[in-house]
Amino acid sequence: MSESDLIMERCEQLATISSQPDRLERVHLSPQHAAANALVGQWMSEAGMSTWQDPAGNQCGRLEGAEPGLPALLIGSHIDTVPDAGRYDGMLGVLLAIAVARRIHSAGIRLPFALEVVAFSDEEGTRFGMALLGSRALAGHWDDEWWSLTDENGITVAEAFQDFGLDPARLPGAFRRPENYVGYLEAHIEQGPILDDADRRLAVVTSIAGARRYAMTVTGKAGHAGGTPYDRRHDALVGASELVVEVERLSRASGTIGTVGRLQAFPGGVNVIPGRVELSLDLRAEFDEQRDECLDLIWDAAEAICVRRGLTFEKRELYRADAVPCDPSLMRAVAAGIRSTGDDDPLAFWSRAGHDGMAVVALTPIAMLFLRCRAGVSHHPDEHVKRSDVAAALEAFEAAVLAVAGQHSVAPLPRVAR
Ligand code: GLV
Ligand code: MN
Ligand code: MN
Repeated sequence: MSESDLIMERCEQLATISSQPDRLERVHLSPQHAAANALVGQWMSEAGMSTWQDPAGNQCGRLEGAEPGLPALLIGSHIDTVPDAGRYDGMLGVLLAIAVARRIHSAGIRLPFALEVVAFSDEEGTRFGMALLGSRALAGHWDDEWWSLTDENGITVAEAFQDFGLDPARLPGAFRRPENYVGYLEAHIEQGPILDDADRRLAVVTSIAGARRYAMTVTGKAGHAGGTPYDRRHDALVGASELVVEVERLSRASGTIGTVGRLQAFPGGVNVIPGRVELSLDLRAEFDEQRDECLDLIWDAAEAICVRRGLTFEKRELYRADAVPCDPSLMRAVAAGIRSTGDDDPLAFWSRAGHDGMAVVALTPIAMLFLRCRAGVSHHPDEHVKRSDVAAALEAFEAAVLAVAGQHSVAPLPRVAR
């Protein structure tokens, strides 16, 4: 079986580890997360790495370089998913990283750094609303308030750690030190249509969009759906609906990307005017100022809608990650990797999606390789990649790692035949 076939097959295997019988959902610190870590750990050790699960639930593997104990190049991605996920977001990057390590190990290449592969535990934030908990811990950035975040069943992050067999008091053991790393490279599907529209396979990521997420509440007054005249209604759902439309209008007008992905009306009776609506906001842009200016306009719009309709508006920030530029030297290495696949003039653009690199950059410089996904569809079970694109991504990713090695004072020793 070819390496790309094996990667595709392993994506299918990981997709079977789900908390839902009919769709893929695997969240942070769940039993499915433990099962995925065990499988990924086994693949890491078969690839020649020493393996461990760190105190934040990240599954890690390490291949020593030319001598033991050298600083490491981190490579990897995440293995948690959104609800009703595709098979490639995150997982493909982990499997490509393992395949690169396996190739380097079996070719006997001695790099001037160690390679550490990480399968991050929580990039999406599906369970606790706060994304990047695994990569933030690894980067040594942890806010103790996060221990009391809860999931939909009221389980706190601290309790979930314990249920998973992790001791919150030992979390600092997951924090890495900058002097032990030379950089972070991640391969990921684009999750947008730029590559597919241009009929290109791979791209260099220039930066990652900054995002903010909010829980918003519109409160009005519940009442009888038949008996309450329109001029006496304070219908929270009609107000919230206006706000959803404003989020789209204002973000489009400012080149920002705004999404209301979750909305729930209370008390939820077919014959009851909604008295309260809870809804989410995800707002992202290439530049933080652009995003924050749009956010102010959204708050003004919410206020105006609520005043006009006799409603009240509240918001709570759940998550904030500022835009992150990729490192120029590592970007050159990624571009060299893409060139090695025959693409002389690699496309380069910013990532609209968030990635673990947004957290890892606090530890070490980052860069990313994008690979085409069909029609740009992601966060959906129709997510699809071509096996031949995976093969190209593997070539490019390995060549990028070797190009990073070439940027270090000690060049990698020549390969021996595989
Ligand atoms: C992660 O996939 C995000 O961009 O929300
Ligand atoms: Mn995702
Ligand atoms: Mn992802």
